[in-house]
Amino acid sequence: MKLELTNKIIKNEHYMRLVSKLKELEKDRIFCKHDMEHFLDLARIAIILCSECGIDYDADIIYTAALLHDIGRVEEYRSGIPHDEASVVIASEILDEIGCTVGKKAEIIRLIASHRTADSAKTELEKIFYRADKKSRLCFCCDAADECNWPEYKRNNEIGV
Ligand SMILES: [Fe+2]
Repeated sequence: MKLELTNKIIKNEHYMRLVSKLKELEKDRIFCKHDMEHFLDLARIAIILCSECGIDYDADIIYTAALLHDIGRVEEYRSGIPHDEASVVIASEILDEIGCTVGKKAEIIRLIASHRTADSAKTELEKIFYRADKKSRLCFCCDAADECNWPEYKRNNEIGV
């Protein structure tokens, strides 16, 4: 399976610069980080959920949206703009830079825009993407669990998808 957009993203200078910046900004963060491990966990869990639920998916779209969904955190730390909104703007620029088609770009942007709230996730795929974002976190063994502001319903206190 060739993940064309996905591999263009990880070779895009603009994107990789933001990933490095985010790593630097979160180096002392005690809560979940927004790094490559999280992005890939999200994508893989979303694909497992799609397969289990019998939902058609394009792996390239899921991986690309996963790589980009939290990239707006850099802007959130800088200016306070919610990261889902900032991610949409930055992802849009990067998708244009790599020559993504209008149709695929719209699908990717919809996944990014709806990843933070269950209510804004409309399609089955958007709901799965939202769920996979949360499922990728290891709350059951987190040292910062007592200080984390995640409500109980979002936490992964058991292993499962
Ligand atoms: Fe995330």
